[in-house]
Amino acid sequence: MRIAIINGPNLNLLGKREPDVYGKMSFEEYLEQLRQVFPKVSLSYFQSNIEGEIINELQNAAANNDGIVLNPAGYTHTSVAIGDAIAALKIPVVEVHISNVHAREDFRKLSHVSAKAVGSIFGLGLKGYELAISYLISLKKP
Ligand code: DQA
Repeated sequence: MRIAIINGPNLNLLGKREPDVYGKMSFEEYLEQLRQVFPKVSLSYFQSNIEGEIINELQNAAANNDGIVLNPAGYTHTSVAIGDAIAALKIPVVEVHISNVHAREDFRKLSHVSAKAVGSIFGLGLKGYELAISYLISLKKP
């Protein structure tokens, strides 16, 4: 089973960026843990600060993965194009946010992604990625 994790802008700074909101661990460190938790799953990881690159990667990843875990970060709240890209995919996409976007500024309550994703997880920290992967694995079971 193959799952692609795609992170949006500023998530390359995880661990250093607003650690009180996003925690102290880098995504690369967390990815090592994830690979240990899911040794049978081939997990790829892509991060970009550029909207079009995220869209290209969504389209590329859909060609050879069983599911996608996507944290579009700030583009969640602004990008019709990322929402459209997800709607065009034939594999499930789970939206993940590390922080509880509904407990923050009002502009974070709007997501252009949620309605196109199979589901969304927010506010559970990095654990949200693990839960999203578990869900995608469960879809493959008979
Ligand atoms: C985020 C929440 C977004 O509102 C924010 O712009 C981010 C990260 C999260 O994971 O909590 O960059 O997606």
